[in-house]
Amino acid sequence: MKKIAYISERIKSFNKKIYVPGDKSLSIRWILFASQAVGTSTAYNLLKSEDVISALNAIKKLGIKYKINKKICKIYGRGLNGFNYKKNTIINAGNSGTLARLIFGLLVSSKNQIILKGDKSLSKRDFSRVIVPMRMFGQNIKSRNLKLPIKIKGTNYPRPINFYEKKGSAQVKSCILLAAMNTPGTTVIKSIPSRDHTEKLFKYLKLPIKILKNKKFDFITCTGTKNYKGFNYIIPGDISSSSFFIVLALLTKNSKILIKNVNVNKSRTGIIDILKIMKAKIVLKNKKNYNGEEIADIFVRNTNQLKSINCPLRMNSRSIDEFLLIFLVCAKANGVSKFNNIGELRNKETDRLKFANKFLNKIGIKTEITNNSFKIYGNPQLKLNKTYKIEKFDKDHRACMLSFIAALSLGGKWVIHDIDSINTSFPNFVSLLKNLGAKIS
Ligand code: S3P
Repeated sequence: MKKIAYISERIKSFNKKIYVPGDKSLSIRWILFASQAVGTSTAYNLLKSEDVISALNAIKKLGIKYKINKKICKIYGRGLNGFNYKKNTIINAGNSGTLARLIFGLLVSSKNQIILKGDKSLSKRDFSRVIVPMRMFGQNIKSRNLKLPIKIKGTNYPRPINFYEKKGSAQVKSCILLAAMNTPGTTVIKSIPSRDHTEKLFKYLKLPIKILKNKKFDFITCTGTKNYKGFNYIIPGDISSSSFFIVLALLTKNSKILIKNVNVNKSRTGIIDILKIMKAKIVLKNKKNYNGEEIADIFVRNTNQLKSINCPLRMNSRSIDEFLLIFLVCAKANGVSKFNNIGELRNKETDRLKFANKFLNKIGIKTEITNNSFKIYGNPQLKLNKTYKIEKFDKDHRACMLSFIAALSLGGKWVIHDIDSINTSFPNFVSLLKNLGAKIS
């Protein structure tokens, strides 16, 4: 793929049905769970993006075999703690925060030292969030500044922990749950709600887990060291990938889209609820349950009656990866939109709050930003006719894809750099856009 994309025309009205690739969070989790199952697991519709390939490479380094072709992926698990590798094996998590954080959990009692590395962007990100709980389990961790590269060696005597997860981070919660799965005794987590695919997989595999919820917190108890058999799984479409098309249809005159078979797990659909509050026309059709996950077709039609939002705090974790797109919609909405407690956006592949602020200012939208909050002064008449160059975004795949959606819906001439970053999560993004009629060179 070329590294720079040029867009100089808005997309024409479209009315299409599309499929987006498999969910990234579920693809990575399936690989990690399958690597510790007893026997063969098979996945259909596994996402084939760079983050997911990094997860397959990681388990291979840990002595787990797999086969992959166009339709399926098979992993030959060796049971809990069944990894087999040499001392100082290097695992490169590439750009994937999810892989890098979750794998600590699987290595809670690993025999030999692992060296965990990542790309430039991942090496800037915070790992204290998993180092703290993993040291409580007894894992030996050496790092110079709580960032990658990190040396990890398990303990022979992992001990269950009680942990308060305050960030609403599914990566931290899942890391602890995977460690708990490999630890005798009962681990207890009190956590701000976040995406719950890991808990759902525990339930699907009949592993001992209990979840109590009150208005503010989830209380999760999990008892470890129960082996489970290899399992088959169909990965549904990714709501985060779908969101680019939801917003494109919403902002493109006279357009409609139907996105088939998407995972609409409630812990992920904040964007739909937020856009509905803003008066977007979105309907979920054909809802069904699959292995504890909810799946539906998402139907969206264009509207030019969008209202601003004072975003409820409970939406933050439920739409954590979609805020860049939500901010773009706010730019076209009537009124001032407000977001509070969104500092976690500064800890993503790039500082997404800073990026969003610069991006919106570049396209003529007034904003107010603090460390932890954001205000957007919407302009429903917004139409662009200048040249916009998008670069230096730490190759953040979502920042890059946002730029395509802005270009195609708002007009102007766009030069978008580092488009190979899209391969992190959504390799056929550009070809899907072209199928809808987008002109991209
Ligand atoms: C993810 C959790 C979120 C999200 C990331 C994927 C996961 O990160 O931003 O893209 O699969 O668990 P945090 O746990 O840091 O919020």
